[in-house]
Amino acid sequence: MEQPKDLQKPKGKLGILLPGLGAVATTFIAGVLLARRGLAKPIGSTTQMGTIRLGRRTENRTPRISEFAPLAALNDLEFGAWDLFPDSAYESATNAAVLESKHLDPIREEMEQIKPMKAVFYPEYVKRLNGTHIKEGKNKAELVEALQADIRNFIKEKNCDRAVCVWCGSTEIYIEASDVHASIEAFEKGLLEDHPGISNSQIYAWACIKEGVPFANGAPNLTTDFPAAAALAKKYNVPTCGKDFKTGQTLMKTILAPGFKARNLGLAGWFSTNILGNRDGEVLDDPDNFKTKEVSKLGVLDSILQPEVNPELYGNIYHKVRINYYPPRGDAKEGWDAIDIVGWLDYPMQIKVDFLCRDSILAAPLVLDLALFMDLAKRANFHGIQEWLSFYFKSPVTPEGLYPEHDLFIQSMKMKNTLRWMMGEDLITHLGNEYYD
Ligand SMILES: NC(=O)c1ccc[n+]([C@@H]2O[C@H](COP(=O)([O-])OP(=O)(O)OC[C@H]3O[C@@H](n4cnc5c(N)ncnc54)[C@H](O)[C@@H]3O)[C@@H](O)[C@H]2O)c1
Repeated sequence: MEQPKDLQKPKGKLGILLPGLGAVATTFIAGVLLARRGLAKPIGSTTQMGTIRLGRRTENRTPRISEFAPLAALNDLEFGAWDLFPDSAYESATNAAVLESKHLDPIREEMEQIKPMKAVFYPEYVKRLNGTHIKEGKNKAELVEALQADIRNFIKEKNCDRAVCVWCGSTEIYIEASDVHASIEAFEKGLLEDHPGISNSQIYAWACIKEGVPFANGAPNLTTDFPAAAALAKKYNVPTCGKDFKTGQTLMKTILAPGFKARNLGLAGWFSTNILGNRDGEVLDDPDNFKTKEVSKLGVLDSILQPEVNPELYGNIYHKVRINYYPPRGDAKEGWDAIDIVGWLDYPMQIKVDFLCRDSILAAPLVLDLALFMDLAKRANFHGIQEWLSFYFKSPVTPEGLYPEHDLFIQSMKMKNTLRWMMGEDLITHLGNEYYD
């Protein structure tokens, strides 16, 4: 990539398009609406609350990222969505029961005006949902065109300058990349022939890329991580990134595991189990949908601990992940981790983590950051897979042949150094010419 020159604050409004207007999407929208009225703080958002050190420590320059990088302002955002249920953002947020009425009441009118467009929905990719607010089309190719028309209409109606898309739809069944995903031509042919390897989320991503709209994937499904989508993103000069928002248990894992590795503590096993009762939990109760999530969650430890480099400490780890649908908890998930570590002279020790978290409260700020950073990436003329945003994902997508970086702290360093580079500041490597700085 070429270093951008003189990146300026954007002009005009940024449209944020969300396929899936469920718990995460509505919690995100509500938070932005409240924050811009000064009624709540956007905690957890690096773009809004994070700072970045610049230059040497003696310079004492640590601006907020929002002041340093030319990001779109919260006041300049417009929201659009698609869903197979026609509920407005207000109704959907009420059903999701993540936010209390003290947060929804002040923004009720604005949330009621956000109504989803009809979804592209083939039910075979998400087993437990039955909606009626669905587009009809002769084949998958026609549905790509219908989504492209939606995007153009939305941008025009809301008077936006540009748009980005963050997939907040349900997790789809596990699909492996196959011949239909190998090239643009094969994929376009597959669209015309309704190929079963082409899922709903792939149809959205294809439409977005063709409209020049950056696409971030918040779910673990195969959506842009295959050669045809990479080629399309290159052709249309569009950034993509994914996948699966890093929240809850996996966030904890990528905080703890780098610590064990840094101190050369061994690991014998890591048993993770969750109970959750929201719609996401219901979808994940189906084994085919869970499989997608499981694959996404399991890769994390291996790539942080690198058992092939250090077989004595990490060569024989028993790693299990379970998700159990348990309606009484709603969105307030409980994630238990039983971690068996090994110390000096092979003595075993145990760590127990019981994280009483709130899934959508953890995911909402990631939607905001991804939208703003993907817009920045596009304006900086970045295209293809945005690995510098791996910080946000459980299964970071990488260019072919590279392994993903899962360590949260390396991811954070990479993200901040990319911002420094974009803005023409020195990278921070902790090594100076004259002294360590
Ligand atoms: N909350 C978290 O911490 C977290 C973390 C990682 C990933 N995710 C993923 O984010 C996604 C959203 O989570 P959520 O809790 O908001 O789920 P949710 O079930 O509340 O919302 C998903 C919405 O997507 C809609 N949908 C499904 N298929 C669609 C399609 N083809 N077109 C348009 N809409 C469609 C559903 O009707 C639903 O309203 C899920 O895939 C979830 O696995 C969430």
